[in-house]
Amino acid sequence: MDMPIRVGIAGVGNCASALVQGVEMYKKYPELEPLVAFKKVGNYTVADIEFTAAFDIDARKVGRDLAEAIFSPPNNATKVYQPGKLGVVVRAGPVLDGKPEGNVVDKVVEGSLEDVVRELESTNTEVLVNYLPTGARKAAEAYAEAALRARAAFINAMPAPIATSEVWQRKFAEREVPLLGDDTQNQIGATVLHKTLVHLLSLRGVEIMDTYQINVGGTPDFANLMYRRGDKEKTKTAAVKKMAEGQDFNAYIAPVAYIPFLGDRKIAHMLIEGRIFGGVPISIRVELEVHDAWNSAAVVSDAIRLAKLALDRHIGGPIYSASAWGFKNPPVHMPPEEAYRAVVEFINGERNN
Ligand SMILES: NC(=O)c1ccc[n+]([C@@H]2O[C@H](COP(=O)([O-])OP(=O)(O)OC[C@H]3O[C@@H](n4cnc5c(N)ncnc54)[C@H](O)[C@@H]3O)[C@@H](O)[C@H]2O)c1
Repeated sequence: MDMPIRVGIAGVGNCASALVQGVEMYKKYPELEPLVAFKKVGNYTVADIEFTAAFDIDARKVGRDLAEAIFSPPNNATKVYQPGKLGVVVRAGPVLDGKPEGNVVDKVVEGSLEDVVRELESTNTEVLVNYLPTGARKAAEAYAEAALRARAAFINAMPAPIATSEVWQRKFAEREVPLLGDDTQNQIGATVLHKTLVHLLSLRGVEIMDTYQINVGGTPDFANLMYRRGDKEKTKTAAVKKMAEGQDFNAYIAPVAYIPFLGDRKIAHMLIEGRIFGGVPISIRVELEVHDAWNSAAVVSDAIRLAKLALDRHIGGPIYSASAWGFKNPPVHMPPEEAYRAVVEFINGERNN
């Protein structure tokens, strides 16, 4: 085993739950091969990830060991594995605009940005993953600032514009700290599937007329998205539209309903309408059902290891290859196979970022 990668988490919600469960399960059972795209990133495997810090504002999570906090309500990610105590106590962070909408959190506990910096430094945390609720732009910026001050690589797993902001790109480049984002693109989620279909039609000379993707789910993320879905609509729409350069078509892409009995299942419905040779119409309909939080964990485990590789090589600023691979709204968009090749080149040291 290589040196562990010391990872902090901001926002101990469903995505954090799946990531922590998965990493700890693969550590405990080395005979299980992690179902990720990159079994090794340099020398790093999923089992090299070690959780060292965690932050939240929900009184039901703050003060608890991370292994317990991931199962505290309102989290409802599918339980696959119960890790033993991790010795990582969830600390309070700055609230700002973080409190999710939809009556998801009752009692809030507040910390400060300085508390976060101190915790990251005293635990030697190398990579901070930002899992804050969608819409929490100011709070996301506070954690980006904390990561920068503590020189921890920052992975922006939610839609606030950080990796796509020139201001933040410059700050991270100046301090030689890696920056990845924005908004995780799940292992096999609606975005990557929709992108692939649109790209295929574009390659085959089909004129795309219009498309929609509507998503329903039963997680706290969906409860919050019913009030604050603007950023999510932007990242999802950008991801799909960029796959057919030169074509202009109508796209309606949105989370549309919070349906509590779905639990952590998300169901995506898609329609793509276009014209082929002779102007003759075609249409494609797709339905995809996934366990949402688990679907994000594989990609974040890739992103953590890619961020660590950048740290090892003293590369700061936006990591374009890893961002295009793992995120819906990266600084540079690439179709999935091109992003995959770019990541392989980055791992092999054939490209810088
Ligand atoms: N597959 C997916 O579920 C997926 C995919 C891509 C992106 N995302 C995005 O990732 C983010 C996390 O998703 P989730 O399902 O884990 O959401 P969640 O609502 O389950 O978790 C968010 C957590 O952040 C905490 N929080 C709120 N404000 C905070 C603050 N200021 N400081 C620290 N913690 C704070 C909440 O209490 C909660 O524990 C969301 O923005 C979501 O849109 C999720």
